[in-house]
Amino acid sequence: MIGWKRARRILLCVTGGIAAYKIPDLVSRLRKLECEVEILMTRAAERLVSPLVLSTLSGRRVWLQEDFLSCERGHEIPHIRLTDWAEVIVVAPCTANTASDLAQGKGESLVAAALLAAKVPVLLFPAMNVHMFEHPATRHNLSVLAERGVRIVDPEFGSLACGYEGKGRLPEMGLILEEVFRALSPARNLNAVRLLVTAGPTREYLDPVRYISNPSTGKMGLAMARTAWYRGAEVRVILGPVEAPGVLHGLDVRRVVSAEEMYGAVLEDLDWATCVVKAAAVGDYRAKDRAGHKVKREGRETLSIELVQNPDIAAEVGRRKRPDQTLIGFAAETDDLLKNARAKMERKGLDLILANDVSAAGCGFGTDTNTVRVLSRDAETIFSGSKEEVADSVWELLSERGMI
Ligand SMILES: Cc1cc2nc3c(=O)[nH]c(=O)nc-3n(C[C@H](O)[C@H](O)[C@H](O)COP(=O)(O)O)c2cc1C
Repeated sequence: MIGWKRARRILLCVTGGIAAYKIPDLVSRLRKLECEVEILMTRAAERLVSPLVLSTLSGRRVWLQEDFLSCERGHEIPHIRLTDWAEVIVVAPCTANTASDLAQGKGESLVAAALLAAKVPVLLFPAMNVHMFEHPATRHNLSVLAERGVRIVDPEFGSLACGYEGKGRLPEMGLILEEVFRALSPARNLNAVRLLVTAGPTREYLDPVRYISNPSTGKMGLAMARTAWYRGAEVRVILGPVEAPGVLHGLDVRRVVSAEEMYGAVLEDLDWATCVVKAAAVGDYRAKDRAGHKVKREGRETLSIELVQNPDIAAEVGRRKRPDQTLIGFAAETDDLLKNARAKMERKGLDLILANDVSAAGCGFGTDTNTVRVLSRDAETIFSGSKEEVADSVWELLSERGMI
């Protein structure tokens, strides 16, 4: 977990959509990150989720519509004080009605007045019946708000509380958190970057049920992708077969299985990219002849499989590299770490290589932490920490050196 995600100040506006019942989970997750959460609720929201639950989880009294112009609390001017205090404002769920109020610049409700006073990033998560969402009035209101710089995160497709199936569901809390982090990111210096990342293992089938692979989980590559997205980059990921890769929101992910498929996918996207991170653990070999049926053990004491080399993706990318592209590779080594990494950097035309000793404790495949030696042509640095921290430090280094 990167340090800047913790202990942030969030103003959460809850409006009267059925998905309001999910918001206590969001509040607990934010509190686990030591964030302070102030909550505003519309009158309709109070009917759909208990203010007592939200105040218990946030550890402070929530602000209700009745507080807005009340003698007891009105003098605290919550709509101004809390928007001044907050680092980000989240409206979740946002009803069609509140979206309309906001688009028209109304200030009758505490929530609408607070949003009129907002000077920090505003994230809006509309959630409603599919026909309400598709109604031209709602579409218009949301596009007006988007033009004004509000970040609108579309609802998800699925079964809705009203019995319909369609676009209207509030996204999962993990996705909402990713949007909050992006809005809070202290650095926004990759806005012009189009990043292509390869991540995960490849799988080379020997027959329909057996394959050669490696224990890569894709965590390091996905951390590079995620942290670049926080910094504003447009990100495509070519991901090998990994299970439960976590929240992929915001990343344009294409799934592949074999090294040959990954090779094809990388070459398709290469012209688009201004930066390529090759973090996948690509198999060097595949079976020369893949059996069409499951190979049986009967009648065979031993089995020999002839392997042939896979195409070298990194080398091909290095050969095609344009002057405006930055190429970053990884070297997972078990011995002669620096020597092997430097040789790989030269051989594959990389600008930067991140070398990790996969035999060391807390490093390499499957771990949540890593220690990498970052080698460029003229310098060497070492970063250690969670994979996300290491990835973020790499982007910082590249920005500082003007390499991206
Ligand atoms: C059970 C129930 C569920 C509702 N769910 C939604 C919803 O998911 N999205 C929405 O836009 N409106 C929903 N509504 C309608 C809003 O509650 C209504 O438009 C209300 O005026 C919104 O007020 P607010 O925007 O101030 O919270 C629902 C109404 C009821 C009775």
